[in-house]
Amino acid sequence: MLVLGIETSCDETCAAVVEPSGRVLSDVVHSQVELHAPYGGVVPELASRDHLRNARPVVEAALARAGVPLSAIGGISVTCRPGLSGALLVGVELAQALAFAREVPIVGVDHLVGHLLAVFLEFPGESARPRPEFPFIALLVSGGHTALYRVDGPDLSAVRELGATRDDAAGEAFDKVAKLLGLGYPGGPVIDRLAKEGDPEGVRLSAPMPSKNSAEFSFSGLKANVARYVEAHGRPGDDQRLRDLCAAFQRRVVDTLVRKSVAATQREAVPRLVIGGGVAANRELRERAQAACDRAGTKLFVPPLRACTDNAAMIAYVGALRLQRGEDDSSAIEMSPETALFQVTRKGRGRRGERLPGG
Ligand code: KG4
Ligand code: ZN
Repeated sequence: MLVLGIETSCDETCAAVVEPSGRVLSDVVHSQVELHAPYGGVVPELASRDHLRNARPVVEAALARAGVPLSAIGGISVTCRPGLSGALLVGVELAQALAFAREVPIVGVDHLVGHLLAVFLEFPGESARPRPEFPFIALLVSGGHTALYRVDGPDLSAVRELGATRDDAAGEAFDKVAKLLGLGYPGGPVIDRLAKEGDPEGVRLSAPMPSKNSAEFSFSGLKANVARYVEAHGRPGDDQRLRDLCAAFQRRVVDTLVRKSVAATQREAVPRLVIGGGVAANRELRERAQAACDRAGTKLFVPPLRACTDNAAMIAYVGALRLQRGEDDSSAIEMSPETALFQVTRKGRGRRGERLPGG
């Protein structure tokens, strides 16, 4: 069975054709970065309108690149949570219309489960990557979420949250610090590039939530630290001081993420770590996680760069697992701005272990 995946939860319009094995036939991403850049962040209303313009051409491009007609698609998988309501609606409506017209089953999937399982995708021309066995520990680091999970299987019900951020997500911290430094949006890739030429000890910044025993994170203090530095010393120009500040900030974030992830693998006695989400594209995170896992005797699994940031291939794969079992959400797809995974206190919402409504 070939599955068409559609993803429009935030600022990328994505479609992909994937086999249930994880083999990717096509994966198309239309980025809205330039549209939102002047505003320093995603403007929801602009996002929905741009999805509306691009959703159909992106799906057509995914089918054309896969070299298959729509009639070859056996099921559709679409992101239905978490995300911007208007943005999600565009993808869900298109997916439902296609499923209705083609009389094929459709499933709605959680974007975060997509990030957790993106490591199972196999892209054309890529040499075979080892796949993790279950259970594994997953560090999810995206623009909207940062959490550690124990993943005992591919279903939502087999994912248990070990800890999450109490305030900003790691990607959000990169984006906010980049904004403070006048580096534009999104902040991750530009800080990653500048940090490469900086000295991480060149500027003193405090470590965020250093306790190894806690699987919870907090990045707002570190961001405030950078804000105070800018207040005291002025915004660095395009000079070494800017690169040092980026390197110091990135080192503090990466160190915390790596230390807590490896500690979680040891506490759970699960020697496999998966990293997913946009921040998993970070060069220093990938390198330092590899070194720390080697020292700890833990195997590290990271998706290729293109599968770390938002894409529809991961959505198609997660949906394919359910479609293969004969599941079908045709009668109702419930959309939500929240993930269905267990949540801790992210900006005060929800208590540990409390399942969100509909989750
Ligand atoms: O997973 P993603 O594409 O979208 C969400 O689901 O949020 O993650 C986007 C986030 C942004 O905050 C972006 O700044 C960050 O991932 N990001 C990076 C890098 N590439 C993207 N952060 C650090 N280093 C990178 N190379
Ligand atoms: Zn994402």
